[in-house]
Amino acid sequence: MSETLIEQTMISKLPNIGVNIFSTMSALAQQHKAVNLAQGFPDFSPSAELIQLVHEYMLKGFNQYAPLAGVRSLVEGLAEKTEKLYGAVYNPDTEITITCGATEACYTALTSILHAGDEVIIPEPSFDVYLPAIELSKAKPVFVPLTFPDFSYDWELIRSKITTRTKLIIINSPHNPTGSILTENDVVQLQKIVEEYPNVYVLSDEVYEHIVFDGKKHLSISSNPVLKERAFVIGSFGKTYHVTGWRLGYCLAPAKMMTEFKKVHQYNTFSPVAPMQFAIADFMKKPEQYESLPVFFQNKRDLFLSHIRESRWEVVPASGTYFQMLSYKNISDENDLEFAARITREFGLASIPVSVFYNDKTDHKLLRFCIAKKEETLLKAAEILCRI
Ligand SMILES: Cc1ncc(COP(=O)(O)O)c(C=O)c1O
Repeated sequence: MSETLIEQTMISKLPNIGVNIFSTMSALAQQHKAVNLAQGFPDFSPSAELIQLVHEYMLKGFNQYAPLAGVRSLVEGLAEKTEKLYGAVYNPDTEITITCGATEACYTALTSILHAGDEVIIPEPSFDVYLPAIELSKAKPVFVPLTFPDFSYDWELIRSKITTRTKLIIINSPHNPTGSILTENDVVQLQKIVEEYPNVYVLSDEVYEHIVFDGKKHLSISSNPVLKERAFVIGSFGKTYHVTGWRLGYCLAPAKMMTEFKKVHQYNTFSPVAPMQFAIADFMKKPEQYESLPVFFQNKRDLFLSHIRESRWEVVPASGTYFQMLSYKNISDENDLEFAARITREFGLASIPVSVFYNDKTDHKLLRFCIAKKEETLLKAAEILCRI
């Protein structure tokens, strides 16, 4: 087939999507041997005990397909944990699926519920994982900015965007990239919306559920009985157990929604990696691990911030997640893409420019830094920030 024929016939279904910023900034970081606080992954090891468990399950022969919903002990463990933490009862037989990361859970949830012409409300800034699945479903994203500078939900504005075609509202708390979290009032407002509009569902991305600071509490959408009946609640074992590369997450949803979810999941991946699922099921029985995460990550954030106190960077308060946003408005007028690239090249520190999380590339002069890093990495980064 000639090149031109391929060009004529291979019509992109995602024409606006190229290599994402996380890969771009990580590549730039590598090229310039920069400290990489760009992509959201830990640079420290997961628990040796967890790795040992995987090894044992592999040696014991647990190397074949897991069931479609996931390994039974993990599904049941997750049901127990969700009831204990959020008072939400999910039936392990019909309402839980283990997925290939929260990424697959988001893709599967979106493609299973959306039809052509449906509208999806996406509060922005927003993580990039939702939009492609919306576009592939021929649905329409409706972007609604979070308030600036505190990045909270503007419910009046959200309400003003609801039409007869609105199918889904995306909620992400704790929020990437801003670190803001849902309040009790947010949950009340969202509940009122789904009560008023029976066609509206919720996708609640809660991958940072255990990373909440300053004694605050994560409010899971599952803990609200009205919202629970209309929501896909999505989590990530990768974030909770410092194993983002294992690609394990999950989705909780009422049986009717989960039936459709499983139809897509079945032909997307069938089921994710089996021995890791067995290992996490055992490891999850020790709640100390996830209970220690708020302090563990808050210490990292506090260390990082205490070492840039004298710098020209302005801190945007964050209540959770792997991320800390910093404003450079006292340092430069450059746009955030240029500035992030320049400090990677010239100072050896990689971050993510926050404008990439907006469809219209709103530039608040903010960069996002990942604090899920070793102490030495954070200190190196802080030292560079003080020089900028
Ligand atoms: C808000 C949010 N949702 C989903 C994901 C994807 O999680 P996973 O690595 O489990 O696919 C991430 C990863 O960075 C994230 O930040």
